[in-house]
Amino acid sequence: MTTDNHILASFVEKVAKCGARIGIIGLGYVGIPLALRFQEVGLQVLGFDIDLERVESLNRGETPIRHIAASDIQSMCAGGFEATADFTRIPEVDAIIICVPTPLSRHREPDLTFIVDTMHSVEPHLRAGQLLSLESTTWPGTTAEVLSPFITRRGFEIGSDFFF
Ligand SMILES: NC(=O)c1ccc[n+]([C@@H]2O[C@H](COP(=O)([O-])OP(=O)(O)OC[C@H]3O[C@@H](n4cnc5c(N)ncnc54)[C@H](O)[C@@H]3O)[C@@H](O)[C@H]2O)c1
Repeated sequence: MTTDNHILASFVEKVAKCGARIGIIGLGYVGIPLALRFQEVGLQVLGFDIDLERVESLNRGETPIRHIAASDIQSMCAGGFEATADFTRIPEVDAIIICVPTPLSRHREPDLTFIVDTMHSVEPHLRAGQLLSLESTTWPGTTAEVLSPFITRRGFEIGSDFFF
């Protein structure tokens, strides 16, 4: 990929050389397999969750998911994976992938409370050059409508020094 944007070029190069660190927020049925896969292809992963018990048990090498073996979690930890509830560590990651729940509301629409809570936790710690990806199930346009304002009010320009 060629680009005149130096921030983007440096991100792409870091990923290509497996030097990027991926931050996964929400270490559940979606977040853990995603973390395992990134680690498998050689990228470092820092996992974030508000559930302290889950954070501590993952760091002990235990599995919270029946179909994932504890040995897989242990290999991931040995490869550098770490789970944390400390969102001040967000600057350590190059990409942030949100995998928090979006339960259906009474009106059968995704409830975005967990996504919005996540954005409030990460917003003060965002830095230029990061890429944000929303993995949670929601309606098309949620990234532009709900996530963008958190980024732009920090003074970042999407597509220029911050990426979706
Ligand atoms: N499970 C699936 O097969 C599947 C498939 C496709 C899409 N999805 C979607 O992916 C999303 C995640 O689903 P899941 O099944 O992994 O959920 P899950 O309940 O298994 O895991 C979610 C994790 O997010 C954590 N969390 C909640 N709020 C948080 C916050 N503010 N900050 C950090 N962590 C927080 C929870 O403690 C939990 O560990 C949902 O939107 C779901 O609809 C799930």
